[in-house]
Amino acid sequence: MRIAFFDSGIGGISVLHEAMKQLPHEDFLYFADTLHVPYGTKSKEEVLAFVKECVEAIHKEEVKALVIACNTATSIAITELRKLYDMPIIGMEPAVKPALEMNRSSGKRVLVFATPLTLKESKYRDLVSRIDDTGMVDSLPLPELVEYCEKFQVEGQSIIAYFQGKLSEYDLSSYGTVVLGCTHYPFYRRILRTILPAHIQIVDGSAGTVNRLIQLLEHRGQLRGEGRGDLKFMCSSHDAAYIQKLERALHLFQEVGV
Ligand code: DGL
Repeated sequence: MRIAFFDSGIGGISVLHEAMKQLPHEDFLYFADTLHVPYGTKSKEEVLAFVKECVEAIHKEEVKALVIACNTATSIAITELRKLYDMPIIGMEPAVKPALEMNRSSGKRVLVFATPLTLKESKYRDLVSRIDDTGMVDSLPLPELVEYCEKFQVEGQSIIAYFQGKLSEYDLSSYGTVVLGCTHYPFYRRILRTILPAHIQIVDGSAGTVNRLIQLLEHRGQLRGEGRGDLKFMCSSHDAAYIQKLERALHLFQEVGV
């Protein structure tokens, strides 16, 4: 049985890439909601309906676990999905906790980049109020970035200008860590490294999520220890061109995301 990854578009490839690295023997299924990407600028009700429809299609494929490789979909739908299905479902949330720990000794601030919907939702606000007792976390919505990423606009002068504009109000010397709280954003890791001051660390939730996946499958005795795994792509629009785009995105990520 396969391990499924779900995202609105190509973003979850950043998490799939980590899983393929750590679990070379597993077969994967990657499903993108091409009919409805982007999620982060839509309403909660719309996104919940889209996610439920896609997860129903994934469930028909008989998978042994599902990773919601999308912070936005997780914050809207994870509770309901876990009520609907028996299969293990792993969600994602912005890596605020590790970021705060990294800055404990320096006393520097944390800046979280995510979609407007993720930042508006109670899941994110509850997380921050639970762990940020000294008010060190700031949040910056980047509503345009997912659409740029879907067009493979991940580098170049216009992207540099975009980030510089968004960051112009921030005194970056007071920040120690930037959290990439949307799975599309690790495609900007290489360009961000050139824009952000060298002392700022960039973190995302991929490794933490894949570690949880491994723990869970290990616990159930469902990890494969041999053989060469494969990868199948699917998308809600059944569009062959988008399947090719997902393959290209995996190659692109190897260049700009790691
Ligand atoms: N990649 C998704 C996330 O992690 C959502 C992007 C979108 O569709 O807006 O939030």
